[in-house]
Amino acid sequence: MHTKPGPTIRPAAPSADPHPGDLPPAEFRRAMHAVADLIADYLEQVHDYPVQPRIQPGDVRRQLASAPPAEPEPLDRILADYKALIEPNATHWNHPGFMAYFPVTGSGPGILGEALAGALNVNAMLWRTGPAPTELEELACDWYRQMLGLPPEFRGHINDTASISSLLALAAARERQTDLEIRRRGLAGRPDLPALTVYCSDQAHSSIDKAMVTLGLGLDNLRRIRSDEAFRLDLAALEAALAADKAAGRRPIAIVATAGTTSTTSVDPLRPLAAVAQRENLWLHVDGAYALAAAICPEYRPVFAGLEHADSIVTNPHKWLFVPVDCSMLLVRDPALLRRAFAIIPDYLTTTESNVTNLMDYGVQLGRRFRALKLWMVLRAFGVRGLQERIRFHCAQARRVAEWLAAEPGLELVAPVPFATVCFRAVVDGPPEAQDAFNERFLAEINADGAIFLSHTRLNGRYVLRMSIGNLRTTAKYVDRALEIIRAAHARVRARV
Ligand SMILES: Cc1ncc(COP(=O)(O)O)c(C=O)c1O
Repeated sequence: MHTKPGPTIRPAAPSADPHPGDLPPAEFRRAMHAVADLIADYLEQVHDYPVQPRIQPGDVRRQLASAPPAEPEPLDRILADYKALIEPNATHWNHPGFMAYFPVTGSGPGILGEALAGALNVNAMLWRTGPAPTELEELACDWYRQMLGLPPEFRGHINDTASISSLLALAAARERQTDLEIRRRGLAGRPDLPALTVYCSDQAHSSIDKAMVTLGLGLDNLRRIRSDEAFRLDLAALEAALAADKAAGRRPIAIVATAGTTSTTSVDPLRPLAAVAQRENLWLHVDGAYALAAAICPEYRPVFAGLEHADSIVTNPHKWLFVPVDCSMLLVRDPALLRRAFAIIPDYLTTTESNVTNLMDYGVQLGRRFRALKLWMVLRAFGVRGLQERIRFHCAQARRVAEWLAAEPGLELVAPVPFATVCFRAVVDGPPEAQDAFNERFLAEINADGAIFLSHTRLNGRYVLRMSIGNLRTTAKYVDRALEIIRAAHARVRARV
């Protein structure tokens, strides 16, 4: 028996050991109310800013203290600097005129969820370290699965971005090559390994290339299959590549189909691709980062027919489901395989609960933000019907833009418009480089106005402009304004030629 008496615990003298702690509660409460007003004012008035700040690189940094403050600063002063230096010098993704890339929205319910998640500051790496966050993540993913019409075997979890979700999906595809023992033996220094080969279209997102790099599969082993006239993966070209690769001793392991490509939002033929994947025993990953949100509307489901045969699917509620950045959902048919690829449980993370999900087992990261709260709040506050209405509104506006562009002299639509993104350019005479240069100037002229922000891409090697409608604050009136700006910019650039 242990009998040694312990030392007496003497109460600490407060004056000898002052407790620095957090902000005093009253000060925090006052600042939090001020922040609520700052946020509400910003969202009400964001349209008064130019979408992109009119500043040069380095302008912001120059106005900020170059060394950290030695002494505490009052919150009022910090918030005043935020209002004067940070807010106006951000690019305003919440602006109704933000029509570049894929617009996102920091919606009201989403912002509230972010704030509350910040307060809880939970790290739900294990069920034990975040019971409600873990279970809410499972629930919110299952709600979204149901909204997408997917069968119940799909299980979801949330990552920061689609890039990471696709990386994890391809890691699971690699893990399925059980005989190669890659998890244990790695890829390096192994002449016994066949070239593990992945297939996607020439329109697939660069995150797939990055996943190949990160997983050690190598860029040379990503086959970018040509797409057809509507920018969808060409099945005959895929079949030819598969046959040639197998004959050359390669081992095909996965197909990445895109459901809503970054440039034109084209959707690869999912059902036929699923049939090829099944026949060849390949993993089928569907990258629906942007457009898959449209599948919550029954009328868009046929576009995604075959999705239910995928092994993994990524969709980003932070893109077109009005959840603030970041929130990317990876849905997998066989979560055990993802676990097999990633679970490593050191002594200090073992737990006694059974039948619980420990989210750290499903990916690279251990610590994780509580992203499910904002998703759950958006799903509840807008409801399925409210979300459908908003997506339908954006698609209807994009169709209106497409009709206008088709009729506008000197402009042409250059790709189908399946959702809410429109690709177009000015038609000009002359060699291709001159045409591209004209369109680059055209885009710069549009964006110089400040009221809208469009981006560009290349299709069939040619420079084209992209207008994507997806922010909750973009009204029909604002779209009309965008068309006026495009028309006026077009006339000005023509006048200068
Ligand atoms: C089709 C597609 N996949 C993946 C991504 C990458 O998304 P994230 O920024 O979430 O990694 C994008 C980005 O726009 C995309 O359009």
